Order: sequence, then C-alpha cells, then structure tokens
Amino acid sequence: MKPTDTPQGAPRTYRVKSFGCQMNVYDGERMGELLEAKGITPAADGEDADLVVLNTCHIREKATEKVYSDVGRLVKAGRAAGKKSMIAVAGCVAQAEGEEIMKRSPGVGMVVGPQAYHRLGDMVDRAARGERSTDTDMPENNAKFGALPARRRVSPSAFLTVQEGCDKFCTYCVVPYTRGAEISRPYAELVEEAKRLVEAGAREITLLGQNVNAWRGEDDKGRSTGLDGLIKTLAAIPDLARIRYTTSHPNDMTDGLIAAHGEVDKLMPYLHLPVQSGSDRVLKAMNRSHTAESYLKLLDRFRAVRPDIALSGDFIVGFPGETEAEFEDTLRIVDAVRYAAAFSFKYSPRPGTPAATMDGQIPVEVMDERLQRLQAALNRDQLAFNAASVGKTCDVLIERKGRKPGQWLGKSPWLQSVFFDSELAIGDMVRAELVCAGPSSLQGRLLETVTA
Ligand code: SAH
Ligand code: SF4
Ligand code: F3S
Repeated sequence: MKPTDTPQGAPRTYRVKSFGCQMNVYDGERMGELLEAKGITPAADGEDADLVVLNTCHIREKATEKVYSDVGRLVKAGRAAGKKSMIAVAGCVAQAEGEEIMKRSPGVGMVVGPQAYHRLGDMVDRAARGERSTDTDMPENNAKFGALPARRRVSPSAFLTVQEGCDKFCTYCVVPYTRGAEISRPYAELVEEAKRLVEAGAREITLLGQNVNAWRGEDDKGRSTGLDGLIKTLAAIPDLARIRYTTSHPNDMTDGLIAAHGEVDKLMPYLHLPVQSGSDRVLKAMNRSHTAESYLKLLDRFRAVRPDIALSGDFIVGFPGETEAEFEDTLRIVDAVRYAAAFSFKYSPRPGTPAATMDGQIPVEVMDERLQRLQAALNRDQLAFNAASVGKTCDVLIERKGRKPGQWLGKSPWLQSVFFDSELAIGDMVRAELVCAGPSSLQGRLLETVTA
C-alpha cells in the first residue's frame, strides 16, 4: 500500500458540497442520508467537517476546474488548522477523471462516480484505515437506489430522480459519458419514494431525469406507461400539492404528457425544454435531431392545452462554426417563444466529445458578445413575464427565509420567486396576490394561508 496524505480514523461529521444540476443535488442529499445512517452527522455552519464530499459537475470547463481548486483549498486549510479533512470526490468529474484526480491530488481519499455512491460507506471505512479507493463502476441497471437508506429529511420542494443517463449524444455534451445510458427507475420504487418524501414533509416533488420525458415503466397492473402515467399516480397522493419535471428533450415528448398539462391540476404550468440554438444547421451539427420549427410547433401544443404555461430553455452560444447569421436565428427563436426564464452558456469544449475537435472554434470575445446580446433578450422577456403576472392571484409554496429579517420566500406555480414581508413558515402554502415585479422575483401580498 502506498503512503497516503489522507487522515485516518472514522469521521464524525460530514459536509456535502454539490456543484452541478438538480440531479447532482439529489445525489448529494442521498449521500448525506447514507452517511447519517452510518452515524456521521452534518457539520455545523462554519465548522470544519471531518469528511468533505465534493459532488462535482463536468458539464463546462469552469465547473470542472472547481474540483482541483477546492481540493487545494481544503488541504491548505487543514494544514493551517492542524486538522486534515477526509476528502471524497463524487459526481461527474469523478466519473470522467477519477484516476487523474487520484494521481494529482494525494489529499483525496475517495473517488466515487454517480452510479457507485451507494458504496460510499464502505469507502469511508477503508479511508479511515488509510486506504484510498476509487469506484466508478457503471452497472447496466441503477441498482444503487435499492441500496440506499429510505428518505428521511426533506425540504417542502423535493427532488426525485426517475430517469438517469442519456443516449442522445449531443456533440458538445459529456453527460452520456458521465451518467451512462438511459435507464428508468421502476414505477413501484418511485411511488414508494414519493410517498416517503411526502411523509417527510415534501409538498412539491420535481421529477428529475437527464431526459425525464423518456421515462417508461410498468404500472401496478403491468401496463406499460410513460411519464404522464407516473405523474397521474403521484397526483393521487393526498398531501402532495405540486408536481414538476425536468429536463425534457423535444424528441421524447409524447401526446400523453402534453395532454396531462391540461388534465392534472397538480402538474404545474411550467416546462423546461432546452432548444440550444435557433439555427437548423447548428442544431444538426449538435446532433439535436429537432429543428427550430418542430420545436416551436411542439410548444404550440403545450400552449393549446395550458395557455398560461411558462416556458424555459437552455442555450449555447458559439458552438463551433456558428456564424453571426446563425446566432441571430437564436435571437429570433427567443423572440418567437418569449421565455419566462432561461439558462444560457458559452460553448465549452469538453474532452472526448465530437464538437471539441470540430473546425471553426469561436474566439471567446465573440462568444462573450453573443452571450451578452442573448442574455439581454432573455432578461427582457423574463421581466416582461414577471410584469405580466402582477395582479394575478396564485398559490405560493414557502421554501425558505429571505435575506432580510422577517422576509419569506416561496415559488409561484410558474416557478417565480415570490417575497413576503409577513410572518410565515417553511412549508406553508399561501394564497397571494403578486404585486410588484423585478427581473428575477416578485413581491407577494398575503391573502390567506391555504395549508400550514
Ligand atoms: N439533459 C438536458 C440538460 C443537459 S446539461 C438537455 O438535454 O437539455 C444542461 C445544459 O448545459 C444543456 O442544456 C446545455 O445548454 C448546456 N451544456 C451542455 N454541454 C455544454 C457545453 N459543452 N458547453 C456549454 N454548455 C453546455
Ligand atoms: Fe447532453 Fe444532449 Fe443528453 Fe441533454 S440530451 S444530456 S444536452 S447529450
Ligand atoms: Fe453536471 Fe453531471 Fe449534472 S456533468 S450537469 S452534474 S449530469
């Protein structure tokens, strides 16, 4: 065995730091529960944890770089305080660069991939004996869920991974490599976990998947069903008030799921449907297998069954070869859709993806300029959407305290942040009038508490 720089002895406290998407956050929560089942408790705010889990994201270069800087910072802080934390690197960078991390960072005791973290407990035991270990196995089924402790402690708005992995292979994206092939979790397991979440205090559940609308399963009568069937079953859980799902792929959309938006009251009027670009040539080079027009037609179908649906999307500017005219096609699709919210990114070449070696890589200054113009258009639409909500009455689920004393913050059905200056409690569902709109939030006037 090689000498290590990792501390020995069993950790008593832990902290999980999640850097990625909602699924990454979900994985982080489940790792926390697993450690707690071993008797390791969450470190208090500001306290150094005995075990730090860096739950990483590989999607863009910036996100990835954070791992190495964070490991460096932890090791340095440990030396200064005379107390070394045990460090585990989890998440998508662990999957993609596990060996490299082990080589480069002797302070890291464990590397564990997104499909292997149910074995984190054993790895911690080994690390306590001074043994470093790496587990980036990717089984064909996601058996990890069955091996995790039951859900216990949740916020009013909880995540539930129903589908994992991606077979789409967009040419810019690492997810198919870090998360593996598309797998749906079984229906019964999901209904059980949803009930547990509601018992533990969840009022809203967001169903998660890299391509969540590709979820398929067999219901309790053995009938094949899609995400709409699962949503309808979950809607029957009495104390569950709201259901959301993310992220969908345009090509996996079904008639049933679209129709569900007109049929299921608990399904919130919000759809995150990334388009990435408004140019058909760029979409083809991205291997997106939809066009700008087919995407717009799809949105029309949602609007037909749910006219107040709020739309959100993801965009990439500066994909290799993107011309000024092609970028303007993206601005045009934004004008056509009028998104309520959106995420936009500069293209980041990722190792091992086809786009990274394509001709016509775009200089960063051009990407910066395009991103600015795109974000100006998206911000304009988001503010307009919020401004158009003023005067509406809706339910708001209170999720946390605001930054100012006496302030509470919740979410509208359209996923807008709504602030209140009244005394409320986390988990309250309140009826409110939306009174004042800003670019990223609204002020609410409390009418009544619907349920406490
Ligand atoms: N499965 C989802 C989301 C995947 S990652 C989907 O298919 O839409 C979230 C977003 O990150 C993507 O929608 C895309 O906009 C962005 N993204 C992915 N790879 C990227 C890259 N190499 N550079 C910049 N943005 C990227
Ligand atoms: Fe990545 Fe495309 Fe899969 Fe989304 S659909 S995870 S962008 S490869
Ligand atoms: Fe990042 Fe992995 Fe999610 S790369 S976006 S944490 S699936």
